[in-house]
Formats: sequence, C-alpha cells, structure tokens
Amino acid sequence: MTSAKLTYDGKDYELGLIEGTEGEVGIDTRKLRKDTGGAITYDPGYGNTGSCSSAITFIDGEKGILRYRGYGIEELAEKARFVEVCHLLIYGSLPNEQQLEEFSRRLTLHTLIHEDMKKFFEGYAASAHPMAILSTMVASLSAYYPDSADDHDIDLNIVRLLAKAKTIAAFSYKKSMGHPVIYPSNDLSYTQNFLHMLFALPVEEYRVPTVLDEALNLLLILHADHEQNCSTSAVRMVGSSQANLFVAISAGINALWGPLHGGANQKVIEMLRGIRNDGSDYKKYVAKAKDKDDPFRLMGFGHRVYKNYDPRARLLKKAADDVLAELGVDDPLLDIARELEQVALEDGYFVERNLYPNVDFYSGIIYRAMGIPTEMFTVMFALGRLPGWIAHWKEMREDPTTRIHRPRQIYTGENSRPFVPISER
Ligand code: SDX
Repeated sequence: MTSAKLTYDGKDYELGLIEGTEGEVGIDTRKLRKDTGGAITYDPGYGNTGSCSSAITFIDGEKGILRYRGYGIEELAEKARFVEVCHLLIYGSLPNEQQLEEFSRRLTLHTLIHEDMKKFFEGYAASAHPMAILSTMVASLSAYYPDSADDHDIDLNIVRLLAKAKTIAAFSYKKSMGHPVIYPSNDLSYTQNFLHMLFALPVEEYRVPTVLDEALNLLLILHADHEQNCSTSAVRMVGSSQANLFVAISAGINALWGPLHGGANQKVIEMLRGIRNDGSDYKKYVAKAKDKDDPFRLMGFGHRVYKNYDPRARLLKKAADDVLAELGVDDPLLDIARELEQVALEDGYFVERNLYPNVDFYSGIIYRAMGIPTEMFTVMFALGRLPGWIAHWKEMREDPTTRIHRPRQIYTGENSRPFVPISER
C-alpha cells in the first residue's frame, strides 16, 4: 500500500502515506488544501490527526503498551533512576556511567534559583495554587537567564530547567505551609534533594526515607512522557514560534493544570473524599458518571488513547499497596478506589466505552501517603513530565522541517454585512 485515494468534487486525488517504525500509518494531507482548491481536514480535538512524527515515545492504546525510546515502561519503572530516564528521553539513550555522573553533577550545580526569585514567593498569597507559582516562575527563568532568549546553549537551559523546577516546586510547598524554604544539598540525588527541600525543617536533622525516595523515583518515571498529549502539544505549539524553552514549558504546565488532564489527580482524591463523606456509596457515583444529565465524571477514568488498562495505572495500583504497607498507612480512600474500579470495570457503560483507570487514578493515593498535600499533586505530575516536554521541544526545534503551528478552521459566522450606526441598532 503506497497511497490513499480521495474523490472530492468529482475529481480523484492520490495522497501519500507515512509509516512509522511500529507500523502506524498516516495519510499525508500536507498538499490537500492546495490540490483541492481549498478543502481541509476537519478533526476538532485532533483525535485522528498526527501533528508530527516523533522518535521519543510509543503508545499502543489498544494493547496498553508504553515505551520511552523503545524501552518498556515496566522495565524502566523497575530498573532505572529518574535522571537516567531524563537523559534517555532528551538525548535518546540511557547514559553510561560517565555520562550519568556528568549529567547528575550538572543538575546538582544548577539546583539553586536566583535569590531575587524568592521575592516572587513573598508576593504570592498563601492560598496561591502551586501550579500558578510553578508556571510563572518557570516562565520567569527567561528573565533571570536572558541568554536563553535565542536558545544558543540549549543543553545549559535544559539542565537549568530540570534542576530548578524541583526547587521552585519545593519552595512553593514551603510557602503554602508557612515554613522557611530549605536550600538544596549538593550531596543528595535528584529525588532525595527534592524530598529534602520538601520535608526538612531547620529545627531538626532530616534523613530522606528510602521508601519515599523509591516511591518518588517511580512516580516521576511513570509520568515522564506520553507522546502528543494536551500539554506536550501545547509545548510544541508555543515552541514552534521559536519562543524560548522556559516559556514553552510554562505553557505545558498551564495546559497540564486542567482537570481533564494532569489536574485530574487532585480531582480524583477530592472525588474519593466526597464519596467517603457521602457514606462511601460508590455505586451511586458510578450511576452519576453514566447519567448524561449529570456533569459528574469518574475522575481518573478514561483516556483518549488507551482503550485498555493504562500500564502506568497498573504499576501505580501495585505501588499504592506496597508504599502504604511500608509506610504503615491505612487509607480508606484506597479501598473506595478499588471498589469503584471493580464496579466500573464490570459495568457495560464503561466496558462499551473502553474506560479504564488512567495514570491519575491511583497516583494521588501514593502522594497522600507520602505526606504531599492534594494541591501539590499536579505539580508532582509536572515535575515528572518535565523531561518529556523538554525532549519534544528539542526534537521539534532540531527538526529542519518544523513549521510554526497554525491550524485552519471552518468559519460558521456571519457573511459580509455593512456597518450599522448606533442609532439604528
Ligand atoms: C491524562 O493524553 C494523554 O496522554 C494524557 C495523560 C498523559 O500522560 O499526558 O495520560 C494524562 O490527562 C489522563 C486523563 C486524566 N483525566 C481524567 O481522568 C478526567 C476524566 N476522564 C475524561 O474526562 C476523559 O476520559 C478524557 C478527557 C481523559 C478523554 O476524553 P475523550 O477522549 O475526549 O473522550 P470523551 O470525553 O469523548 O468520552 C468518550 C465517552 C463519552 O460518552 P459518550 O458520548 O460516548 O456516551 O466516554 C465517556 C464520555 O461521556 N467518558 C466518561 C469518562 N470518560 C469518558 N464517562 C464517565 N466518566 C469518565 N471519566
């Protein structure tokens, strides 16, 4: 098969095909408008539209497969450290010992943020959502590092962003708690440093518990990339105008915040709390989720691409058991989540629509057990997704065929009409 045929307005058109390394096929419509004299494709939400070709992440939604640069998520979750996965996604290969040491050293040396940035934190209301702080502070990095404007040293800005985003996130948590910020420590790993900045207090010695370090490593790896999701597409869209890395990633942070995307992990816990407070009548909420007249949706359920169990949710469901057991936490919300999943997966409405738990369904249970407040959950998602966003921005910027993203539309407004003076309106 080398082409697709289209018949439109009495004429036949031959459209080329693009085939990926996993056998996916794209019909090439790049000349459609020109060849047909104006007809375009129409696909609101882009469910059937490829925005690019990419070598970073492969998802088979029907089979529940997720691979970063060819490595299965299950193996990476079990055997890799998050910094290795950052290098893999951004530079295309797992680092050797020397590369890992150098990459980790650079990340450590760039973890501090400019002291003047602390004044931003002082200006925020105590109630400010940490996602608002994160997106603003990440965009502001371009003000503190003006050399980032023309991206002349992309690798330096990538290291700055990976290193400083966790510091900004930790400082925003301390701000929300009314605690003094804790500075990073150069003798800690990436994940240990974040947990240290999050939970240490200046009045006592704090050692990062291994169970928290391992749980965070797993959570960050499972969130690290997911091909052309809403926030990654936002990063590519903004980056396609040649806006700098920091502001493109800030756009991704903002897109992720939405409750239909990364904001869902916070909504899942709020939903489970609501069900518990309503007598744990989870069947009532499954019925509400099915009712078209009821705006309630089962948060953490469903996915545009996965029509099978999200492999990340499977790993997180097991991790929730392991982490809570090791921490000695007995969370009734986990029991409700499991009951809710069981009822939904046996219900025709969910089965017919291939609705399964997604990455957000169990992640919040683990964050809670770790002592991370609900409003920080989407920030945790953003910290995990950072290497994925960066990798896609870099791939797009290094692709010589990249064009500024500028979709077309079908206009449905008024036809031409003369101006009406106010006296006649
Ligand atoms: C993430 O894209 C990614 O890769 C995202 C992500 C990543 O790693 O980047 O995986 C992270 O964003 C996960 C998704 C987190 N969001 C939620 O958990 C919010 C709840 N889920 C949904 O709102 C919904 O499932 C979406 C947004 C995830 C997907 O929406 P789609 O693909 O536009 O699907 P749809 O809304 O058209 O739903 C199809 C049908 C509809 O019913 P019908 O019109 O066919 O009768 O399924 C129903 C929907 O009503 N449906 C749900 C439902 N999700 C879909 N019904 C009840 N509860 C739900 N959660």
